[in-house]
Amino acid sequence: MSHPSLQNATGPLPAVNRRMFMMTTAAGAGAAASAGASAAAEAGSAAPGPGTGARETRVTINGRPHELKLEPRASLLDVLREQIGLTGAKKGCDHGQCGACTVHVDGRRVASCLTLAVKTDGCAVTTIEGIESPEGLLHPMQQAFVDHDALQCGYCTPGQIMAAIACVREGHATSDAQIREYMSGNICRCGAYAGILEAIREAAPHVRRMDSRMEGSRHA
Ligand code: FES
Ligand code: FES
Repeated sequence: MSHPSLQNATGPLPAVNRRMFMMTTAAGAGAAASAGASAAAEAGSAAPGPGTGARETRVTINGRPHELKLEPRASLLDVLREQIGLTGAKKGCDHGQCGACTVHVDGRRVASCLTLAVKTDGCAVTTIEGIESPEGLLHPMQQAFVDHDALQCGYCTPGQIMAAIACVREGHATSDAQIREYMSGNICRCGAYAGILEAIREAAPHVRRMDSRMEGSRHA
């Protein structure tokens, strides 16, 4: 008597021998491989090769207009560092997890490693290189970082400063707890957090005054 699990409504199933098993498995694997190959081919055709599919992008960076031809998949961070030569924004994780690449796009902080450069077409980008005064004086937030020893190796510092300025402008620097919360996306592996907090606390009123002066002169 055959085993119950090998029965179906019409009677016993044919015996599955080793040759049949191998043939069936090989056919399935072949089908899967060819389905995978066509999916890969489709993905490949969607992604432009080097030099193909470049898009015209007009972007103002630190007050200077640029006309660029960009690969649609290029990150803003790579374009800034490798095409424009602005290496202030740092590549820490390249996955949006450390904040070292923080820059401003139209005044809002973004992780430039996660921002497609073509998406900044028509926008104003500001990096750490663009925040000193026209006379070459440090931005109040930069000065406060220096005054409070808010760095050790300095790798995270450009991102910390850009995030800190945005944090003040967003109205998220009214208490120590708030500063900690809204700066939590910027990691410092040297652990300079105490100095960073003091720097932001001290610079916040200066940044607010500076911004309201600029706003006033814009409407004058
Ligand atoms: S490099 Fe962009 S968040 Fe880390
Ligand atoms: S100062 Fe070294 S990572 Fe922040």
